[in-house]
Amino acid sequence: MTVTTDFPLSARLRDVRGSAIRDLLTLTARPDVLSLAGGLPAAGALPRERIAAAAERALRAPASVQYGETAGLAGLREVVAAHEAQRLDRPVAAGDVVVTSGSQQALDLLARAVVDPGDPVVVEDPVYVGALQVFQAAGADLHGVPLDADGMDLDALERLLRGGLRPRLVHTVSSFHNPRGVTLAAERRARLAHLADRYGLLVVEDDPYGLLGFEGAPPRAMRADEADAVIYLGSFSKTFAPGLRVGWVLAPHGVRDKLVMASEANQLCPSSFTQMTVAAYLGTHPWREQVKAYREVYRERRDAMLAALTDLMPEGTTWTVPAGGFYVWATLPEGLDAGAMLPRAIGERVAYVPGAAFYAHDSADPAARRSLRLSYCYPTPEQIREGVRRLAGVVEAELEVRASFGLTAPSRGGAGYPEGSEPGLP
Ligand SMILES: Cc1ncc(COP(=O)(O)O)c(C=O)c1O
Repeated sequence: MTVTTDFPLSARLRDVRGSAIRDLLTLTARPDVLSLAGGLPAAGALPRERIAAAAERALRAPASVQYGETAGLAGLREVVAAHEAQRLDRPVAAGDVVVTSGSQQALDLLARAVVDPGDPVVVEDPVYVGALQVFQAAGADLHGVPLDADGMDLDALERLLRGGLRPRLVHTVSSFHNPRGVTLAAERRARLAHLADRYGLLVVEDDPYGLLGFEGAPPRAMRADEADAVIYLGSFSKTFAPGLRVGWVLAPHGVRDKLVMASEANQLCPSSFTQMTVAAYLGTHPWREQVKAYREVYRERRDAMLAALTDLMPEGTTWTVPAGGFYVWATLPEGLDAGAMLPRAIGERVAYVPGAAFYAHDSADPAARRSLRLSYCYPTPEQIREGVRRLAGVVEAELEVRASFGLTAPSRGGAGYPEGSEPGLP
């Protein structure tokens, strides 16, 4: 969306796509719309009385309402370090952890620390929109690398590297991808680490969903085997509560120090109150228990989404089968356009995010326009089924128009998104 203003705007933000996140959250708040769009955790499953008790305990300490260390409060950094030492199967000291206001801020601080305007940055194609916005705002020269069922296509990445590209960062959502739902295969993790070593790359392992796998142990983080080249971003948003805005970074030392400086310039320090609340909560309700509770909720919802797609979607629709996380990536039958179809879907009271919103540049893949992201994290299994039922009706109506006129159905409001609802978002 282009904003007209009488005031000059910074070149840094002028070309960044409009805030999609805000617009879509507005849309999903409409009670009559069943939203399969947002990546909102099932916070209704949280024991809020226990959080209230933890917040009260936190507030009893004067430090909770005081400024704190820029890198984060010692108590929380110890909790995170102990968890990461177990997850990464290697020692992690509290001093290695930099606490951020969610991993979204970590991405922004990283871009400030490492990327100058014009610097190449490699992202996945499609990419998490929040990362896209950060790197666009930093003026990065974005290079998209396609994904398949096993995650980033490393042959494509290697071709870019052999061709002389030297990206400042390679961003990957390695486990239960947002938006594709796929996971980087173990051998590709090893190969990416090898490429990082060989070409002197910094890999950003953006991992908010890693613990939310439905089958067996979480995928082994790349940071476990390649601490010198991998910047690991963790978050309590998807495994606890996004409203508390607590995430963290593990980075090679030189980068870590710059991140702390960038954080100081940006916010002085993260919220003491929310850090202490998280630490107090996890002191009595250990993380594993919290994650386990969420995993059960999301597995049930993923199953409800897959069953509804199988039972209800017209022939010719395909989708990914995520082994964890929040998202299914669906591709509509030939000839349809998920962006053009959105106004009709909203009219039928169902929302999704068109796939085209997740590409750094117009995709060369003809299936990109037919794709959409469906989230199963927030709605109940019954709502998911009803949402897919409405969506299937919309797709069928589009197919009928196409069969009658040989065209994609004209959408009210033109070929884009309805006014004020251009998508994006967590
Ligand atoms: C891949 C990825 N990274 C980062 C974030 C930002 O999460 P937060 O800032 O809430 O930790 C999200 C949110 O959806 C995400 O999907």
